[in-house]
Amino acid sequence: MKIFIDSADVNEIREVASWGILDGVTTNPTLVAKTGREMKECITEIAQIVDGPISVEVISTEHQGMVREAEEWARINPKNITIKIPMTTEGLKAVKILSEKNIKTNVTLIFSPNQALLAAKAGATFVSPFVGRLDDISHFGMEIVSDIVQIYRNYGFLTEIIVASVRNPLHVVEAARMGADIATVPYAVLKQMVSHPLTDIGIKKFFEDYQKIPKK
Ligand code: G3P
Repeated sequence: MKIFIDSADVNEIREVASWGILDGVTTNPTLVAKTGREMKECITEIAQIVDGPISVEVISTEHQGMVREAEEWARINPKNITIKIPMTTEGLKAVKILSEKNIKTNVTLIFSPNQALLAAKAGATFVSPFVGRLDDISHFGMEIVSDIVQIYRNYGFLTEIIVASVRNPLHVVEAARMGADIATVPYAVLKQMVSHPLTDIGIKKFFEDYQKIPKK
């Protein structure tokens, strides 16, 4: 299973990359706005830190504009830059064109299995079901992930599933149990995944017992 970080903060990204577990990055306009940085400068720096898919979101609503933005972003790093396209009919048109141009796409704002089915048929490289936002409206977000995994397996779609809008470590465990390809995880949740109180207690006890060992 691949782990991406859902962040545009280069300090967070650099830190998690140093753990040796980072396979890619997803950003969106909200995450870039939080950094207070100019978007192109921010994405260019991220592309220098991580050698893996880096999702950058378009803001156009018609497909010609999405394709134009995508071609511009892809210039930063044609191998890794992945274009986040919203799940609309115009988005599907853009995905079809971009897949023919070998530009990677991540169809975002997926809230149903049918949306994921259509995105895969249009040629999406990735789809991003937003599980936390579904949980927020009392719909089990992980249920659609399970459906999408099954649908893609039934037909051999190569589109990879990125579990997005992750809010807690259990979302990641469930994603892994279901066989989702990727979870994109906020920095705070990645840190929660590392920690366990028994690990901390064990480290403290071993340190204390080490002090009791006679020294020469
Ligand atoms: O990258 C998009 C997605 O992960 C958004 O998460 O927490 O804003 O629903 P959230």
